[in-house]
Amino acid sequence: MDKLLITGGNRLNGEVTVSGAKNAALPILCAALLAETPLHLSSIAALKDIDTTIKLLDTMGVKISRNGDKVTLDASEVASFEATYEMVKTMRASILVLGPLLARFGTARVSLPGGCAIGSRPVDLHIKGLQAMGAAIHITHGYIQASTLHLPNRRLQGARYYMDLVTVTGTENLMMAAALAEGTTVLENAAKEPEVIDLAEMLIKMGANITGAGTDVITIVGVEKLNGTTHNVVCDRIEAGTYMVAAAMAGGEVKLLNVQAHLLDAVIEKLREAGATVTHDADTITVKSDGKLKAVNIRTAPHPAFPTDMQAQFMALNAMAEGVSKVTETIFENRFMHVQELQRMGADISIDGNTALVKGVSELDGATVMATDLRASASLVLAGLVARGDTVIERIYHLDRGYENLEAKLNALGANVKRVA
Ligand code: UD1
Repeated sequence: MDKLLITGGNRLNGEVTVSGAKNAALPILCAALLAETPLHLSSIAALKDIDTTIKLLDTMGVKISRNGDKVTLDASEVASFEATYEMVKTMRASILVLGPLLARFGTARVSLPGGCAIGSRPVDLHIKGLQAMGAAIHITHGYIQASTLHLPNRRLQGARYYMDLVTVTGTENLMMAAALAEGTTVLENAAKEPEVIDLAEMLIKMGANITGAGTDVITIVGVEKLNGTTHNVVCDRIEAGTYMVAAAMAGGEVKLLNVQAHLLDAVIEKLREAGATVTHDADTITVKSDGKLKAVNIRTAPHPAFPTDMQAQFMALNAMAEGVSKVTETIFENRFMHVQELQRMGADISIDGNTALVKGVSELDGATVMATDLRASASLVLAGLVARGDTVIERIYHLDRGYENLEAKLNALGANVKRVA
């Protein structure tokens, strides 16, 4: 199994181009199931999770061609309405086919995701939302079996639905389903993440009638059919944020290209508080740092607050910053898997419930550590970049799920990262 070998201590300088967002691309690829004519996408990053989604859609009969970052999907002849356990267990976001399948074909069979490294992550709100739209849903043998065949015109019926918790993929699933429902759906307490907005913008180009995406009330007036369109996926703000933290920690000057600074307000604010200089224009962000940082308190919450997907990276930053900080995780109950590994590199971190107390140390020490989930892995890479000596990161398939060309991008900035067998 591949490992990353990082020799720490190099400053980072130069430019890095940010890829299209994984978390926007996944729902957008699934939205192809709603369209009767081909959908043409660009800025689709070369990532494991993207490959998994494409494979899943392929098993359903969607015709797919991929050329670099461009993907065309033709769902005019879908033959299977199922996402098997084998698929869903490798990627929870496979649940995003549920809404589109049910809305367009009136039937869907999707495996329940089960547990994952960062918590139990149920999909009850996806299911309740579809039930509010009239779907008949049975859970049998670990599968969600959903049907609209008993409904007028066999179509989901518009409904008002309040989500108890802000859920990103839940909002996306229900928005896609409602796009083809009969009547008006109002989603309350909806997620406001930029990836939700990107999906809504594409659905509107496909012929959907959606207003309010980016606020906590989204209104969808269902239409009878949707067509393909062309769409360029929004930049990956989490990939961007990870390189920004890398530059701040390692020191140097890094300019990110193809990025929208306003999607990263909370992250930029925290980096400035830590002592880095962050400037930006229309589609670039520059981070300048001498590598001497001050510890910053972090509290994760739904967008536009500080993203949970950047928590682990800031834990690494705080581990080598001056002072004591508190990192509070409010979204996922078990998202401190990186702490034990950072401790093996000399970090001084103690956990009390959903809060980690981080006492900055003057130097981290290279060690062999294990990646446990996507963003935890990113925090280990960041720690490795500044640690004394060599760091070996095992199980890097997690990183390949969400970071395109990670080692090439870091090495182009001056890092010393090698993939070894
Ligand atoms: C998405 C992102 C993930 C990010 C997360 C939070 C994708 C593909 N993934 O995940 O990178 O970390 O948002 O920003 O976009 N919950 C329920 N019931 C549900 C749904 C969610 O209890 O039906 C809970 C979850 O367990 C969690 C919280 O709600 O505690 C938020 O989860 P959610 O926003 O749904 O995360 P994902 O959409 O899976």
